[in-house]
Amino acid sequence: MGADMQTQVGIVGAGPAGLVLSHLLHLEGIDSVVLEQRSRSYVETRVRAGVLEQTSTDLLIGTGVGERMLDEGAVHGGVNLQFDGKRHRIDFAKLTGGRRITVYGQQEVVKDLIAARLDAGGTVLFEANDVTPNDVAGEHPTITFRHQGADHELACDVIAGCDGFHGVCRGVIPGDVLAEFSREYPFGWLGVLASVAPSTDELIYAFHRRGFALHSLRSPELSRLYVQVDPRDDIENWPDERIWSELQLRLASPGWTLEEGPIIEKAITAMRSYVCEPMQYGRLYLAGDAAHIVPPTGAKGMNLAIADVSILARALADWFHRGERSGLDGYSDRCLRRVWRVQDFSNTMTELMHVLPDGDPFALRVQRAKQRYVATSSAMQHTIAENYVGLPLA
Ligand code: FAD
Ligand code: PHB
Repeated sequence: MGADMQTQVGIVGAGPAGLVLSHLLHLEGIDSVVLEQRSRSYVETRVRAGVLEQTSTDLLIGTGVGERMLDEGAVHGGVNLQFDGKRHRIDFAKLTGGRRITVYGQQEVVKDLIAARLDAGGTVLFEANDVTPNDVAGEHPTITFRHQGADHELACDVIAGCDGFHGVCRGVIPGDVLAEFSREYPFGWLGVLASVAPSTDELIYAFHRRGFALHSLRSPELSRLYVQVDPRDDIENWPDERIWSELQLRLASPGWTLEEGPIIEKAITAMRSYVCEPMQYGRLYLAGDAAHIVPPTGAKGMNLAIADVSILARALADWFHRGERSGLDGYSDRCLRRVWRVQDFSNTMTELMHVLPDGDPFALRVQRAKQRYVATSSAMQHTIAENYVGLPLA
């Protein structure tokens, strides 16, 4: 069949990467179509990340989609790292010349972006099935898909694979071109959303000999909490009382109380690090989780997705408007420098804060020495702060 639709940039996936890309392209006067396999309500309620770096919030505010985030998001000037009950505050504002993070749910970012795209007359097709990128090595790529019972073919100048880790785009890059690097961790996170006022103003990352725990927030009435578990564990093994009792033990600190409340959502996520190189092939460009995954301990996944597409949008604008293709040619190399920096930070935070099952005694002693160093060295705290608030887009 011939193409029955056309656009400049065909975008697969309506997560943060695909939606921010579509929004930035629109501001550059470049047309795009976003194809998403899930329903609108599914993507708008999927509970995931919660921390936005200053670089990400600057971008959202600067491009007109930060209004509700400014109203409802919570700006934090630091986080707490806790080792065996003793809390150490990392003062971002002091250590990074006033940079901060914003706690605002990923699904809220997604809602704001979908609303902005639809208000501007943009095309976001939900429940698009059998989405398949074709002919990406040639000059005339297309995306075939099914939508509302009909088959379609979308002709594009380029395709952006923003379809997350389990998407279809990465798979069209030939195996002899694609190099993959990954690490599986021997633990996962059991995450819960609880309807109770947060017991803390700022995030608490806690190392405890029973395992890691994290107290994060979503709103004055909603807390987000995580406990380290076996990645193969079944959520059925975790009744709410067991979750609270682990959180009480692991987050305990003298003079501080953890308030409990009804758990309204819970799930276990395995943790892994993954990078594919290159992030582009022919006229296909990968962005976000489609190209890389980080363990969540550094709160970086959504931020990396936003950084990738801000680089891609600029490169596409140079190409469409001025015929300048150095930005596009260098896209992957430029993104990968940031991706590997963030891999290092996320891995460092993960190894610092988790109990390594069957950890060897040498590794455990090195971990303890690192924790003491974090607790006492302003140089180390500076390094954590600089990476956590996010390095500028280079
Ligand atoms: P996704 O959000 O995965 O979006 C991809 C989209 O593509 C999805 O909507 C999917 O339905 C769609 N799709 C997939 N396949 C197809 C297909 N074949 N056809 C059409 N559409 C398709 N990151 C942070 O920055 N800070 C945090 O605090 C943080 N905490 C996290 C906590 C948890 C428990 C988890 C699971 C993740 C966390 N992350 C965090 C990571 C963050 O959620 C991801 O990195 C982020 O969602 C990546 O955005 P993306 O747009 O690249 O991919
Ligand atoms: C969250 O609020 O969901 C969150 C916060 C910090 C992390 C990961 C997740 O490192």
